[in-house]
Amino acid sequence: MKIAIIGAGNVGGALGKAWAKAGHYIIFGVRNPGQGKTQPPLAEIGVGATAVTVPDAARSADIIVLATPWPAVADAITAMGDLRGKVLVDCTNPLSLNGDGSLSLSVGSTTSGAEEIEKLATGAQVVKAFNTYGWENFANSAYPNAAGLKPVMFYCGDHDGAKATTAKLASDLGFDPVDTGGLGMARSLEPLALLWIRLSIREGRNPNFTWARLTR
Ligand SMILES: NC(=O)c1ccc[n+]([C@@H]2O[C@H](COP(=O)([O-])OP(=O)(O)OC[C@H]3O[C@@H](n4cnc5c(N)ncnc54)[C@H](OP(=O)(O)O)[C@@H]3O)[C@@H](O)[C@H]2O)c1
Repeated sequence: MKIAIIGAGNVGGALGKAWAKAGHYIIFGVRNPGQGKTQPPLAEIGVGATAVTVPDAARSADIIVLATPWPAVADAITAMGDLRGKVLVDCTNPLSLNGDGSLSLSVGSTTSGAEEIEKLATGAQVVKAFNTYGWENFANSAYPNAAGLKPVMFYCGDHDGAKATTAKLASDLGFDPVDTGGLGMARSLEPLALLWIRLSIREGRNPNFTWARLTR
């Protein structure tokens, strides 16, 4: 698949490199295509990726992955232009820093970042995914000591086709995709990111853990 990734930082870069390894073509959409954080993933991927402006990237692919900081979301969506019919995979978390240095969500409970993104991205088919773990787990989701268990990738959205595409992209990276329901379930998936961050910090910022499901 041709995948446009808006933002080429920790998350965008890790996902781009991993999807390129799985055979997808990556179009990074960034503000300055010739410089900055895009350069290391571009160099590593080689011919399997390019970097262009945000509108050019969004125009070039039917699947767009949004991986910008939350405060940049509205600008990035405006820059993308016409999103009708596009699959928009939202990896962002609406994090805000508390006075004591801890994190909370700037929206939640009665809405979610993903639902706010859907309001901004007119006509796009929004799927929440790739938001509950640190990027290190997108770069490498292999857990050799997990007795065959795969890490889950929770996702949600209101469009079955867009969710199927997202599930395939999660499988391609070695995840066990778990459909959690409609886009409103992002109200549960975004706090899960906070839980992951808190556990990671408690363990000395060890990012190498994920959720998995045990089934009978
Ligand atoms: N870090 C994690 O492990 C992790 C895991 C799951 C989800 N998330 C979420 O994923 C998102 C990205 O996190 P990150 O750690 O990858 O951030 P990051 O390393 O700071 O990278 C952010 C990227 O977004 C770009 N960007 C910023 N403003 C933009 C704009 N207005 N238009 C287009 N691109 C813009 C930046 O480009 P410039 O170089 O031009 O600034 C950069 O490439 C956040 O919402 C975060 O909460 C993070």
